[in-house]
Amino acid sequence: MPVTFKTPVEIEKMRTAGRLAAEVLEMIEPHVVPGVTTDELDRRCHQYIVEHQQAVPAPLNYHGFPKSICTSINHVICHGIPNEKRLKEGDVVNVDITVIKDGFHGDTSMMFQVGNTSIKAQRLMATAYECLRLGIALVRPGARLGDIGWAIAQHAEARHYSVVREYCGHGIGRVFHEDPQVLHYGQPGTGYVLQAGMTFTIEPMINAGKRHVRLLPDGWTVVTKDHSLSAQWEHTVLVTAEGHEVLTARGNEDFKLPVEEFRYQAS
Ligand code: MF3
Ligand code: CO
Ligand code: CO
Repeated sequence: MPVTFKTPVEIEKMRTAGRLAAEVLEMIEPHVVPGVTTDELDRRCHQYIVEHQQAVPAPLNYHGFPKSICTSINHVICHGIPNEKRLKEGDVVNVDITVIKDGFHGDTSMMFQVGNTSIKAQRLMATAYECLRLGIALVRPGARLGDIGWAIAQHAEARHYSVVREYCGHGIGRVFHEDPQVLHYGQPGTGYVLQAGMTFTIEPMINAGKRHVRLLPDGWTVVTKDHSLSAQWEHTVLVTAEGHEVLTARGNEDFKLPVEEFRYQAS
């Protein structure tokens, strides 16, 4: 899949898809509570996307994925499949939403806390969010993907966390996963040079323990090999002449704040 540069008309469609994906996360938030099943969350999101947004949930049947969203709980890194199990107090869960509207994709995910969670889990989630914010802050024409990956990894590793290497961010547009690959580690001054009109995701997966992954026999669910907690946040970003625009920003996120100044809010 080549890198694609979006025209002004295509950028407007990416804005719409991104906004819809963000709105699904805002809609589902009050439903992520102890006792709810991830199947129920999946059904709600599916119905909202199809009926209210008149859009398409991209994961459903994507390479055979059986559901409309991904729900990744605790030591699950990504691509968790919604099922009949109930969320319990203290769980942390990533909900990953991708919608297709008018032919274009918007892809975003965030962590939710189920009731009260441990300080350990909260610190991990906060750091993963900071990693995403640091990466986004570097996006501008002329920046290199190695700069972004390096910034993310050094922030996580300074806190003695590890960065998952087997899965990465990606170009996105008419195609769900296109070039470039956006690694969450790397060397400054290396890698693809960003240009205005590119759209891609940044979606760091940060583990409390070691970085190694294991794929479960269902062929989708990716877990930490050492069963340590993992956290992930994802946005779809547009490279603009001036810097960047976060296409999947939620209403309560302020990307104008300098990265050093913002504080992660628990909910
Ligand atoms: N939304 C995921 C991503 O961020 C991809 C999910 S693919 C699926 O790239 F098939 F697992 F849904
Ligand atoms: Co993605
Ligand atoms: Co995603």
